[in-house]
Amino acid sequence: MKIMVINGPNLNMLGKRNTAIYGDKTLAEIDTLLRKEGESLGVEIVSFQSNSEGALIDFIQKHSTDASGIIINPGALTHYGFSLRDALDDSGVLVIEVHLSNIYAREEWRAKSVIAPIAKGQISGFGWRGYVAALRTLVGELKKET
Ligand code: DQA
Repeated sequence: MKIMVINGPNLNMLGKRNTAIYGDKTLAEIDTLLRKEGESLGVEIVSFQSNSEGALIDFIQKHSTDASGIIINPGALTHYGFSLRDALDDSGVLVIEVHLSNIYAREEWRAKSVIAPIAKGQISGFGWRGYVAALRTLVGELKKET
């Protein structure tokens, strides 16, 4: 079973970027944790980060034929990324949306997600642990389905 882990704009800066809000782990450190968790769950992780919406869409289109799930932190595209939303929807793959911060407890514009309506669910506000929780939940959901 293959799971895509996708991170959008500015998440390559984790560890340096606003650590009071996003925590001090780098994206590479989060990726390592997810790979370890993936190993113990018996799933393959394919991860990708880009600052460009088009590159994220290309990655989703390329891997959706043989992936079973997507964990995505769309960064600010969460709030206005309609092409990304369509690509996720068109993929037919189960999606879990993750945010390090609680997007409902910040600026008003962050409280709107255009991704949420096409996702199975969302985890927001638990920092890096949200990604691990998403992976466990996603695999649980997928095993239930098969
Ligand atoms: C974020 C929240 C977004 O509003 C923001 O633009 C990000 C990170 C989060 O993980 O909390 O880049 O998705």
